Amino acid sequence: MCGIVGYIGNNDTKEVLLNGLEKLEYRGYDSAGIATLNEDGMHLFKVKGRIAALRNKVDENVHATMGIGHTRWATHGEPSEDNAHPHQSNSGQFTIVHNGVIENYYEIRDQYLANVALKSETDTEIIVQLIEVLYNECKDVKEAFRQTVAKLKGSYAIGVIDAENPDMIYVAKNKSPLLIGLGDDFNVIASDAMATLKQTNRYLEINDKEIVILKRDRVEIQTLDGTVIEREPFVAQIDATDIEKGTYPYFMLKEIDEQPFVMRKIIQEYQDEHDDIKLDSDVRSAMLDADRIYIIAAGTSYHAGLVGKQFIEKIANIPVEVHIASEFSYNMPLLSKSPLFVFISQSGETADSRSVLVKIKELGHPALTITNVPGSTLSREADYTLHLHAGPEIAVASTKAYTAQIAVLAILAVDTAKAKGLKFDFDPLRELAIVASAMESLTDQKEKFESIAKDYFETTRNAFFIGRSGDYNVVQEAALKLKEISYIQAEGFAGGELKHGTIALIEQDTPVVALVTQANINYSIRGNVQEVAARGAKTCIISMEGLEQEDDSFVLPHVHELLTPLVSVVPMQLLAYYAALHRDCDVDKPRNLAKSVTVE
Ligand code: M6R
Repeated sequence: MCGIVGYIGNNDTKEVLLNGLEKLEYRGYDSAGIATLNEDGMHLFKVKGRIAALRNKVDENVHATMGIGHTRWATHGEPSEDNAHPHQSNSGQFTIVHNGVIENYYEIRDQYLANVALKSETDTEIIVQLIEVLYNECKDVKEAFRQTVAKLKGSYAIGVIDAENPDMIYVAKNKSPLLIGLGDDFNVIASDAMATLKQTNRYLEINDKEIVILKRDRVEIQTLDGTVIEREPFVAQIDATDIEKGTYPYFMLKEIDEQPFVMRKIIQEYQDEHDDIKLDSDVRSAMLDADRIYIIAAGTSYHAGLVGKQFIEKIANIPVEVHIASEFSYNMPLLSKSPLFVFISQSGETADSRSVLVKIKELGHPALTITNVPGSTLSREADYTLHLHAGPEIAVASTKAYTAQIAVLAILAVDTAKAKGLKFDFDPLRELAIVASAMESLTDQKEKFESIAKDYFETTRNAFFIGRSGDYNVVQEAALKLKEISYIQAEGFAGGELKHGTIALIEQDTPVVALVTQANINYSIRGNVQEVAARGAKTCIISMEGLEQEDDSFVLPHVHELLTPLVSVVPMQLLAYYAALHRDCDVDKPRNLAKSVTVE
């Protein structure tokens, strides 16, 4: 989704901004721009399309030591150069980059900007025009900025520069992520620390409704009513080399291959010196206090939540509801007496989940966030955090975060069960080690999945994935993976549900992939495969060792029955990857999608 980077220092800012925007490309965008300020004035460069095109457009001879840059994922107005950020006020004095959505856009326009000619269709432009209108009244830039921010409703991360003052960047935030990066003789802003890791690993959080004045040697944080805030910086735990592709053609393939390592890292992080589970005792208490768990998530994280429900109910004996974040806020179920909310989010920044978190906090309920980014908004605002330790996930299609989420949920369920004194025969740390080896054997056989992908998905318009019980959860994820990167219309169905409607879509050679990893559904799901095959479907069965039959397309190495999703999803990820590759799709940056969905 939209990205922001800004720099004020003593070096040339162009490369910092362009490099920072390149690091944000993975989040998804459709236009980009930078503005730099020097003694000759403001220099604005914008393009519809990729950063590479922006690089070609930026004048190499312009040298400036401060500026702001942006990648835009269109919300108000089509992707175009006019709608790309930075936007300027009509006199050209103020220039802005903005992430988020201004909800009172029309009210501000009608009340304050009736006499202002707007140049774009964006909600962002009204912010910068309002700063100018208010500045013309009070003749104080900081005050005009403060008054403007106070009038905004909705989500925003904002960086503003004033053409008449090259020594300050004005910054504000509400709901949308934004960090201040600290240097020795410079400071930066970034919507994601990855954009500025080359410059610094020391960051300051900005809380909602704070404004920040960023200078070369100083950072002043204030609340909207002028109270000065002192805050300690933190060190971002990301290694700059983790965000390089190395020899891989795409991040997605690298991240699929990293999954065995991630499993081992999770074992290491969640194991104590006696080889038992090591987990924050506050998290354990919160689980024990809960009479019902509400898992809130979106997309792939929602699919991981569905698997987590099985663990927590079967192992820890606590009822679980899994909700799509964007639906929960508008259709809240009756809550139990003592609920615990578990937010699952790779990025920790998903606006839909955050909106639920804000609501349930208002109701006084406890929240645990399971995330790959411990300093993220969902992590900071929840009571407890469990870290996924998956390393940065750059490809838009989530892979290693999904398996890490499932692994951590399994550990959480077992830890709770042990604390409750429940008896069961399942050591998650030992079983995850077996999973890691099984994953390795799958990633070593990529050519087999490449060949299945070519055979089944090279030219098809649609595809179906079917499964029952635990496999049903995984086929939903398989379908999401395939559709988001290959643009094949794909659906994941419960095998038994097909004949209640969807089987009408089966035509000659429609691909249907079935997963068979659970003994109790082996017979019934194979029956569903026969039903679609009889109607012309081109079927592919991926089964687990011990359950295989002669014509199965691939047999997965055996792992504990509860953890089969961790293994069965790997072929699904690889099928999606190779399908996208053979259809010439941009695997890491699929069209219309953003890595981190920071607007509701
Ligand atoms: O960062 P989150 O886990 O909260 O993101 C949730 C979804 O936006 C995300 O999983 C999305 O569905 C992925 N692109 C799927 O691959």
